[in-house]
Amino acid sequence: MTKTQSTTTRDEALLTLIQKLVETPGPSGQENLIRAAVIEEIKDYAEEIRTDALGNLIARVGTKQPGGLRVMVSAHIDEIGLMVTHVDANGFARFIAIGGVSPLTCIGGRVLFMNGTRGVIGCERLEPNTVPTLDKLFIDTGALSREDCPVSVGDVCGFERPFLDMGAHLVAKSMDDRVSAAVAIQALRAVKKTPHEVFFVFSTQEEVGLRGATTAAYGVNPDVGLAVDVTRTGDTPRTVKMEVALDKGPAIKVRDSSFIADPRVVDWMVATAKSAGLPYQLEVLEAGGTDGRAIQLAHAGVPAGCLSIPCRYIHSPSEMVSYSDVKYAIELLTRLLSAEIKLG
Ligand code: CO
Ligand code: ZN
Repeated sequence: MTKTQSTTTRDEALLTLIQKLVETPGPSGQENLIRAAVIEEIKDYAEEIRTDALGNLIARVGTKQPGGLRVMVSAHIDEIGLMVTHVDANGFARFIAIGGVSPLTCIGGRVLFMNGTRGVIGCERLEPNTVPTLDKLFIDTGALSREDCPVSVGDVCGFERPFLDMGAHLVAKSMDDRVSAAVAIQALRAVKKTPHEVFFVFSTQEEVGLRGATTAAYGVNPDVGLAVDVTRTGDTPRTVKMEVALDKGPAIKVRDSSFIADPRVVDWMVATAKSAGLPYQLEVLEAGGTDGRAIQLAHAGVPAGCLSIPCRYIHSPSEMVSYSDVKYAIELLTRLLSAEIKLG
């Protein structure tokens, strides 16, 4: 017999949801399609849904009971992408990055513009032993001239790569942060009895500086907040020294370079995971940030933390997460939102 994938029952509806979310284009500032896709998934479950000026989708579940709090959960729905800066006489488009884009993951890649145009990324001839920079790259849409080119200055594209289900691991170009949007959607549907007023925010423009979560956190004005986002792992060859690994459960963030998670929130998350017997890892991330920072710094300050989904190859066309980590993250988030919150 050959070795086959795990025979434990897989949640096909969850896999379909993740695939739908990761394959919907939505670079920062262009979240219309992905927001509409999320609304479709939550409209029968949320008690109130609104969109703010920055395009954040804010959905409420529950009303505040005695002992309850206003809780904000933020998962960003934007993704990294590219924006056209110039089209040359021969129809090749130059671009800048939207968010953290590495030139190394661009070359030979395919892009999809919001107007439906597809393109491939080419590279100028490089000097020997040099690393390409973004200004050496261009998008080829098949156009023969500037006049013929279907995209122009200011047009935005995302990377295009189909969802890949490897069994234990799932791969896509925008697990950051659509996998967390899927986790938030599943928790939103699962939270039945809660003493809290829970605001699920599907935030915009995270990749360009936590901009959506900044206004959303101001508007929601929560008593406590959690970001849900991917984090790096230290489990691939010669990568950063970091304890987080795939398949060991979701990570509870202690610190990244954007904020120090509120220790009371960390304790609450750890205690909840322990009492439910759910696997978890503690995360100290050297460089990176999440909506947790924006929540923490709203108004006069908010106790905030972050539930992280371990992810290999972040900001590449093949971001990889663990199916079991995702399942446990949904369960942990649901439990965090369902019981009374005691911040020590
Ligand atoms: Co990111
Ligand atoms: Zn992210």
